[in-house]
This record gives sequence, structure tokens and C-alpha cells, in this order.
Amino acid sequence: MADSVDAGVASAVGRYVVTQERSLDRDCTTLGRHVLQQLQSFGSDAQDLSALMNRIALAGKLIARHLNRSGLVDDALGFTGATNVQGEAVKKMDIYANDVFISVFKQSGLVCRLASEEMERPYYIPENCPIGRYTLLYDPIDGSSNIDIDLNVGSIFAIRQQEGNDETGEAVDLLQAGHKQLAAGYILYGPSTVLVYSIGRGVHAFTLDPSLGEFILSHENLKIPSSGKLYSVNEGNFGQWEPAMQACVQYFRETGGYSSRYSGALVADLHRILFQGGVFLYPGTQAKPQGKLRLLYEAAPLAFLMEQAGGLASDGRQPIMDIVPEKIHARSPLVIGSSEEVRRVESLLQRGSD
Ligand code: AHG
Ligand code: MN
Ligand code: MN
Repeated sequence: MADSVDAGVASAVGRYVVTQERSLDRDCTTLGRHVLQQLQSFGSDAQDLSALMNRIALAGKLIARHLNRSGLVDDALGFTGATNVQGEAVKKMDIYANDVFISVFKQSGLVCRLASEEMERPYYIPENCPIGRYTLLYDPIDGSSNIDIDLNVGSIFAIRQQEGNDETGEAVDLLQAGHKQLAAGYILYGPSTVLVYSIGRGVHAFTLDPSLGEFILSHENLKIPSSGKLYSVNEGNFGQWEPAMQACVQYFRETGGYSSRYSGALVADLHRILFQGGVFLYPGTQAKPQGKLRLLYEAAPLAFLMEQAGGLASDGRQPIMDIVPEKIHARSPLVIGSSEEVRRVESLLQRGSD
């Protein structure tokens, strides 16, 4: 009798272990493994991309941890008193997150240069440069105005292959179109921390499980709806737009069913649009025709992602992915989201300029 009870328990345990293993196998796909699966290769390029994505994930975890405790930690919130190359007041969290990416990639061996919103010139890691074939472009904290009030912020990233030896130290090979991106994505620090990435094989989302300290695959092959009833734009700037852009927003206001959603963090607004459809706009103004958003580490990475998800990204007249920046911190107007809404905006802008 005891034997049969033991045997029953053993078999139940066995079943439990098998079930757990299966469920781990099925449910717990980590980022590094997913990259290798996507590339169907264990070659050196695939290993590099997998390692790079793991490093980005580590930066995301460190930043998420700091954000989670920011109200309790000295010197986490508020301004530094400095102004960055964009002429914007720098927050302590911008600098913290900027430094996190640098220190994480110093140890990667793979990245020779980092170009960020917070640094006038690219940051070189000389010890990596003989072997570091990649450059990381990033916006360490996107939506900085949300930090001190505990609302959503994000990080945006792109990886490009370094071309040439960059002997002048000017990183001119970065002044190329978005098609040169090997990988791009964002991390959203919201109720969950979510990392969304593409290496040119669809768009995939990973959610940070804080108890495991791992990003786990939560949404594979995300596709944006071809149309959606959301528009996201800072309407406080309405009076500064060209009439054709005013007509676009007027269209969304007056056409039935559209809702306006704007959080002050591009990553958060884009995440909503990726899942629900619609369009995000950050137009130029008469005073600043190129708008506010930066091409290399905001617009182009998100355009790469959006096209991979079946949507579009435009400056209103041409695809963001085709634009060649004149300088590292170049800006561009941005119209990004569902194909139907982006095309609608482009055609209204075209009509306005005819
Ligand atoms: P950042 O915090 O990196 O400077 O980016 C802020 C960006 C973007 O996240 C957001 O959509 C937009 O600026 C908000 O700007 P406005 O306050 O002008 O709407
Ligand atoms: Mn930003
Ligand atoms: Mn920023």
C-alpha cells in the first residue's frame, strides 16, 4: 500500500516536473534566446545581436529599479541645473540613465561608440574600439517631464554597424538613413516594464518579471491595426502649425469616433498606438520646421519598429527611414502609426501644399 502511495506521489511529482519543464519551455522565452531563434543561427553576428539585446535588457532593468524607488532615494528626482545639447533642462534621471547605458556597454566588448540625446558628441569606449563593431544610439529617458510626477517614461534604442575606422572621431558613418539600423526598440517603464524590439524580423514585446529579474516574451509578432481611432498630438501647439497640419488635426477632431490621447512621453503614446491603432504626430512649427524629436535616436528607431509592425512612419512627406540626417542631433517632424491614418495625414498635407 505504502509502495503504491509512494509510486503515485512519484508519478504525480514526475508529471508536475514534466508539466513545469514544458511550461518553462513554452512560456519563458528570454530575450537573448529569442534573438537567436529569430536569426535561426548561432553564428557570430547572431551571438553579437543576442549579447547586445541582453545588455540593453540589463540597462532597462537597472533604470526600472531606479525609477521604482525614485521617490525614496536622494538625488533621483529633479533637475541637475545643466542644459543639454538640445537646449533642454537636464534631469538627474536623464544623466543616471545615460550613464547606465555607458557602463553596461563598457563591459560588452561589442560597442565602440554610443550616441545619445544627452551627449553632444558620441562617447567612445577605446578599449572596445579594436573589436567593437557596433554603435548604440539611444534616448536614455524619453518623456523626462513625466519623471517627477511618477508617470510613464521610456528609453529608445537602435544598433548600427560601425562602418570604417572613424579615424576623425566624427562618427560621420552614422549620418545615414534608418535602413542602416540592425535593431531598434524601446523600453516602456509603466505599470510593467516592457521591452519592444525588432531585428528586422517582426516586432516582439517582453515583459519584465520582477521576481525573476528577466524579460519574458509576452507578445510575439505584434501587428498594428491598419486603422485605429486614436490621435496623439500636443494640441497646445495648434496655433504654431502650418495651416495644412491644422487641417489634419481638424479632420481627426471632426471625423466621428476619434479620441485624443497624449501623455508627454512618445514611447508611452506609441505603445498605445502600436496595440490599438491610430496616429502619433509631432509636427514642425513655423519657428521650428523640424519639430522637436530627434531623428537618429527617436524617430528612426521607432520608424524601424513601426514598419516591422505593418505601420508607417513619415515626416509628413517622405518615409522617416529614407531621411539622411545632416548631423547627429538632427530633428524631424514625425507622423507615425497605422497605415490608413499616416496616409491620411500625408494626403492632407500634400493637398495643403498644392
Ligand atoms: P525627451 O524627454 O527625450 O526630451 O522627449 C520628450 C519628447 C517626447 O517624449 C514627447 O512626445 C514630447 O517630447 C513631448 O513634448 P511636448 O511637451 O512639446 O509635447
Ligand atoms: Mn525623447
Ligand atoms: Mn530623453
